[in-house]
Amino acid sequence: MDMDLIEALRLQVEWGADEALLDAPQDRRVAAPAAAASAPVQAGRAHHAPRHVARHATVLPAGPAQAAKVAESCESLEALQAALAGFTGCALRDTATQLVFADGAADARLMVVGEAPGAEEDRAGRPFVGPSGQLLDKMLGSIGLDRATVRILNTVPWRPPGDRPPTEAEVGVCLPFLLRHIALVRPRALLLLGAVAARAVLPEPERGLGIRRLRGAWLQVEIPGLAAPIPCLPSYHPAYLLRMPAAKSEAWRDLLQLREFLELLSTQG
Ligand code: URA
Repeated sequence: MDMDLIEALRLQVEWGADEALLDAPQDRRVAAPAAAASAPVQAGRAHHAPRHVARHATVLPAGPAQAAKVAESCESLEALQAALAGFTGCALRDTATQLVFADGAADARLMVVGEAPGAEEDRAGRPFVGPSGQLLDKMLGSIGLDRATVRILNTVPWRPPGDRPPTEAEVGVCLPFLLRHIALVRPRALLLLGAVAARAVLPEPERGLGIRRLRGAWLQVEIPGLAAPIPCLPSYHPAYLLRMPAAKSEAWRDLLQLREFLELLSTQG
């Protein structure tokens, strides 16, 4: 076995290049055939085009300023999903397989916000279906909830290469879509899983605090388009709990608080 090749493959996987784009390998060091070389750029990109582009999605102009304008103009979740599918302002879409929009009820009382899709979510097109998702399902089940009745989504809807955390710029450009999603679903509470979700949704000064400081304390957050501030509960991300099982007791306390809050809501109708 050629160890250099194996190392090169490992590096590619680390960088997130873990999906085959073509059926046969292509040596990009040799000159492309004349026909291919003279083909329009669009045709050359066809293989690389993310598979998630909805059939009727309009391709919208790129750029962070555009994101807020586009998101705010969406009057339904379907429109928001189509707008995201056509939004070119976040480079993560170029390396992801598809858009991972959301899962669960469109009128959920609880919205669960994670960080970003991983490899399995990227393949399935659904958030939290890998190991973190299995733990999340158990966590929700432990307080009588399930993924069909809550709304689950991520701070950024495309998988970052190699499962690195999304950058501030990537979170910033996707944030208007997340905020609009919240405004359209109108949940009664948000569960923010991990530092990325907490930092994205919470205002200053909480935004600057670590998740260990933030977890377990409710915060009221104003969301554009919602008449009243929404109660947000930051807690640990399931991926962190898988790595640090000792933190599960704190996460359990957070879940009990969440259950208590939701029960209180039920008694109020
Ligand atoms: N981690 C997340 O934050 N979201 C997912 O969808 C999967 C893993």
